[in-house]
Amino acid sequence: MSFRVQPAAPARPNRCQLFGPGSRPAIFEKMAASAADVINLDLEDSVAPDDKPEARKNIIAAIGDIDWGNKHLSVRINGLDTPYWYRDVIDLLENASDRIDQIMIPKVGNAADIYTVDALVTAVESAKGRSKPIALEVIIETAAGIAHVEEIAAASPRLQAMSLGAADFAASMGMQTTGIGGTQENYYMHREGEKYWADPWHWAQTAIVAACRTHGVLPVDGPFGDFSDDEGFRAQALRSATLGMVGKWAIHPKQVALANEVFTPSEAQVAEAREILEAMEQAKRDGAGAAVYKGRLVDLASIRQAEVIVRQAEMIAG
Ligand code: COA
Ligand code: MG
Repeated sequence: MSFRVQPAAPARPNRCQLFGPGSRPAIFEKMAASAADVINLDLEDSVAPDDKPEARKNIIAAIGDIDWGNKHLSVRINGLDTPYWYRDVIDLLENASDRIDQIMIPKVGNAADIYTVDALVTAVESAKGRSKPIALEVIIETAAGIAHVEEIAAASPRLQAMSLGAADFAASMGMQTTGIGGTQENYYMHREGEKYWADPWHWAQTAIVAACRTHGVLPVDGPFGDFSDDEGFRAQALRSATLGMVGKWAIHPKQVALANEVFTPSEAQVAEAREILEAMEQAKRDGAGAAVYKGRLVDLASIRQAEVIVRQAEMIAG
């Protein structure tokens, strides 16, 4: 094992990130009243080009005017391949109140993209005397983004979270699907007349989790487009949680409760984790490194596994 200790990710709940278009201020109060841990006010793809200036104004006003409680408040700017992004950053940081926590950069392709935004953010913060440093989050949603995922995860001490954006990712990769996440009809194994559906998002998710865990960043699953399909959302979210992701986006308010349910360790999971820790305490008292819990092996690695669940539950509760 490397002698370097794996850095901890930010200790804040990120079970659900609720999105809403900056051009639709009528829903901002509803977003603030939701049970989402993170709010993403959008200036990018849910806002038409002609509406960008108005959306910036709406968002800047809402950051100061609305009571966002203890939510982590993030604004998604436009991509670095557009003429909008610099104005997004400058207008936000020159005019928005200190209540803004984070800026989300979409379609990042390499570490220099983050460096570029970091440099602009740092200059505006310094010029305006902003005392609260803005955090960054990014979306991996291009072939370049996934190819350079580790340098992106390491790109800035401001970086707190990284999401997989399934729709743009599929488009950039040339995948033959118009679905936003979830099961894809044509991605299956076949045996003896039966189809078995596999997960086409799996490798990108695990690459993101590994890059994030190496550099102390929160790995997050992005949107699930079919908001009438609760079971499909739950299945996707459960797979993401199993792989180490900490949360998922909601693109409709009805997905918030689903995400919170999946990404909050259940009482049964926490109770079992505590029992494993207790079994290992007993093993230690007996001078053993391994023990038997419910007919299966537990050892020192089981302590680290159980602690992931207990720590997550305590952080959410606290
Ligand atoms: N956050 C909070 N509340 C929302 C909401 C959101 N993102 N989207 C809709 N609502 C509210 C509606 O205002 C409505 O409230 P009401 O019951 O008080 O009238 C209620 O939730 C039900 O909304 P519904 O009629 O089912 O949806 P809609 O047709 O108004 O909007 C979408 C559907 C998908 C267009 C909308 O949810 C949306 O814009 N989602 C976010 C899109 C986005 O940001 N994309 C970028 C990231 S991928
Ligand atoms: Mg996108």
